[in-house]
Amino acid sequence: EVREREGKKGEYTVEPVENGGAEPLGKKVPLDGDGVSVGDGKGVKLKRQVGLISGIALIVGTMIGSGIFVSPKGVLTQTDSVGMSLVVWLLCGVLATMGALCYAELGTIITKSGAEYAYLKYAFGDVIAFLFAWVSIAVIKTSSVAIIAISFGTYVVSAFFEGECSQPDVLIKVLAAVAIILIVFINCASVKWATAVQNFFTAAKLLALVIIIIVGFVKLIQGDVRYLTPSTSFQGSSTNVFAYGIAFYQGLWAYDGWNQLNYITEELVKPHRNLPLAIIIGIPLVTVLYLLVNIAYFTAMSPDELLQSGAVAVTFANRTLGVMAWLMPVAVAFSTFGAANGTCFTAGRLTFVAAREGHMVEILSMVHVKRYTPFPALVFQSFIAILMLLPGDFESLVNYFSFAAWLFYGGTVAALLVLRYKHPEWHRPIKVPILIPIIVLIASVYLVIAPIIDEPALEYLFAFLFILAGLIFYVPFVHYKYVPPFMKHITVFFQLLLEVAPTSYFEPEEDED
Ligand code: ARG
Repeated sequence: EVREREGKKGEYTVEPVENGGAEPLGKKVPLDGDGVSVGDGKGVKLKRQVGLISGIALIVGTMIGSGIFVSPKGVLTQTDSVGMSLVVWLLCGVLATMGALCYAELGTIITKSGAEYAYLKYAFGDVIAFLFAWVSIAVIKTSSVAIIAISFGTYVVSAFFEGECSQPDVLIKVLAAVAIILIVFINCASVKWATAVQNFFTAAKLLALVIIIIVGFVKLIQGDVRYLTPSTSFQGSSTNVFAYGIAFYQGLWAYDGWNQLNYITEELVKPHRNLPLAIIIGIPLVTVLYLLVNIAYFTAMSPDELLQSGAVAVTFANRTLGVMAWLMPVAVAFSTFGAANGTCFTAGRLTFVAAREGHMVEILSMVHVKRYTPFPALVFQSFIAILMLLPGDFESLVNYFSFAAWLFYGGTVAALLVLRYKHPEWHRPIKVPILIPIIVLIASVYLVIAPIIDEPALEYLFAFLFILAGLIFYVPFVHYKYVPPFMKHITVFFQLLLEVAPTSYFEPEEDED
């Protein structure tokens, strides 16, 4: 039933929203009573321009970033054998595909922007949705940027430090910070620049992967299969079921971004068909690429050598590419720079949207008056990302990231099950077999719990407390809408300083990650 919305600024009846464009939903549109985002009567409708190919490109382009050049080490450390680490890489791909299929169902019944945020809100209410926004902004998105920036630093440094000697940590972090600052500058300056950077650097990562895969093939044909023969490659595999949790964390980092299409379902042409198709084609494609790259690594180095390498793709190139070896650090540095740029772009937007919904301080929802970029949100996010660089290294940041991310991916899949139960009557253009969300849910429970059992670290407790700490802000500022009197002055101060203004007209750019 289409209900009237009680938006803060006057009331209006919401017209039936198209059901992800698949079919007009008419009266079955699931709408709740509070005026939030998309389809909210402002008449802004995004055009359906993203076809199947661009959809696949978006998924593939987001997923491939830093992980495939850095994570193999983390996966191998935990699994202790080449065979098992390849199995983990494969399973990560399967899990990502299944997760994305669940998101496809959610994305076509709830077409509001904000992906997880919107789905959690429908299934579990405001508090959980707010906690998600809080954790996303404070931890998930910011650590993503930090992780990718560290990978960038690692590869730039590796170009100058020949061999496999240990690389200066401080230098890596300084470079990472410089990259973040540069990226924020670009993103604040112009949306056009940010997208141009994105397109240019996307080519770099494909180049890097293709080189690795081709060289790997050649080496395979030449018979470099010492570490890959099935009979021996599983020898010594770790038997600790819980240690695999961390291995999955590292692998799944490389696959993160599988939910990317959900941020733009409204712009997809024939989402009913193209959303699942893009997922079914895109994610297995990445899985195959990742497996081939991993196999290629092992044609050129032993597991021990991989564990000792600071930058596996550079070690690979040094051994196989001869005079062209310099190409690899450059390509990977470009790839990671592009990925950090895209993630920053999205992260800034998320903060901006949450602030617009009244879930963050107002200043963060403002846009630069001349440049039309969410300036305060971008600066705020990168500030946190840089703070994260100080104590963090790649692996521990990835573990934090994955812990927080899978807590909410699992929650979102649970939302799918809850909505099936609560609203069996809803029209579902895409309805996945119920087994898929159940498997993903079980997997995410395992993913969240296994690392804690394996190595009970205080960090996880802190992370969990941090999530709950969101409530301290929620109760007074969101639920009771309390605005401290001094807040107004602070907002005005920053408005003048940053030259930003509130906006209901500038629609944010779509995700270009
Ligand atoms: N999978 C990417 C990588 O390996 C990270 C993606 C970060 N997530 C995102 N939604 N941009 O670098």
